[in-house]
Amino acid sequence: MAVGVDGFSAGLGEERLPAYVYDVSGLGEYVREIVAALADGPEVFYAAKANADAPVLRAVAAEVAGIEVASGGELEHVRRLLPDARIAFGGPGKTDRELRLAARLKAERVHVESPYELRRLAEAAEGEGRDLDVLLRVNLAGDRAGAALAMSGPFGMDPGLIADCLPILAAAPRLRLRGVHAHLASGLDVPALVAQQREILDWARPWLARAGVTLPEINLGGGMAVDYARPEARFDWAAYGKALSSLALPGETLRVEPGRALTVHHGWYVTDVLDVKTAHGRAYAVVRGGTHHLRTPATKNHDQPFRVLPGPRHADAPSVRDTAVTLVGQLCTPKDVLARDIPLPRLSVGDRVVFAMAGAYAWNISHHSFLMHPEPSFHYL
Ligand SMILES: Cc1ncc(COP(=O)(O)O)c(C=O)c1O
Repeated sequence: MAVGVDGFSAGLGEERLPAYVYDVSGLGEYVREIVAALADGPEVFYAAKANADAPVLRAVAAEVAGIEVASGGELEHVRRLLPDARIAFGGPGKTDRELRLAARLKAERVHVESPYELRRLAEAAEGEGRDLDVLLRVNLAGDRAGAALAMSGPFGMDPGLIADCLPILAAAPRLRLRGVHAHLASGLDVPALVAQQREILDWARPWLARAGVTLPEINLGGGMAVDYARPEARFDWAAYGKALSSLALPGETLRVEPGRALTVHHGWYVTDVLDVKTAHGRAYAVVRGGTHHLRTPATKNHDQPFRVLPGPRHADAPSVRDTAVTLVGQLCTPKDVLARDIPLPRLSVGDRVVFAMAGAYAWNISHHSFLMHPEPSFHYL
């Protein structure tokens, strides 16, 4: 598909740049393979926060068991696009309005973050006259070494606090405790993820048994690693599926909710070089757009992988040869860096730059309004 993306990108007129290009058919196939690799283990929900763009979401939703949303806005968006989807609603700081929406828009599971939230969910369920199924979100202590992002701090409840939920549930006829939810870290490879999930299961099983939950559900979260330094590499879903199938017990439902590792590889941010120059011995290329469209390298402090498609190459166009080049955007901030000191045989004004791994936490986490540059165009292959 890379050839298809490059061909399409090369054919985009300058007036349509920058552009986001999504390979939705490749994405659907990829997610189908992932779900097949996990067939003997957990069911897969997609964390919509990674990318809830409508065609992307539809392509993923066609393959997975459900969608995890983390705000009332995501809940409304997903329910509008996918009227029949199974939805799990999580996230910290849910308002009363959002808790009522959970009932009204038929969230199949609500992931509860605190005893106070649980009390207000009970009131919302009463007010809406609907029953709701609950997973309590647990925040286990522990060393999250190797994680790109550890969800320590305010997320969920530690094992002491979570006990306060049981009397609240006992007094809430419209709430039913179905299990626990945990998402402890992001960016874990297979061994680290499996070790963490084993830890969750070891805590959750006896706790749920003591709480009287039969046929429990345990949502093990997302956080499967992707490697921005190796865009061709993929998370080893087959090894992960094998490991998890050996952890699963009959009678319980395991669920995972990955975001990044599902969609990141099937989106590209395509732009062109506006200027090339050297400053204090360092070569810079200024590209159209920048981190207000693709914030990922700034938030994760990495070089966004890219390839260069040669442009028209006018004889007088500024260019550099056999040089390490830093690619920056159009923003008036030294933080607007997409990739640093990347050795290139040649880069010239007018060349196309196709940034890969822009299918997750890219456009939707970027500060679009800063400097009021035009928004990118969007394309679906
Ligand atoms: C509760 C929860 N579930 C799932 C995810 C998805 O994580 P990832 O995109 O790393 O797979 C996140 C991400 O922050 C999260 O907070």
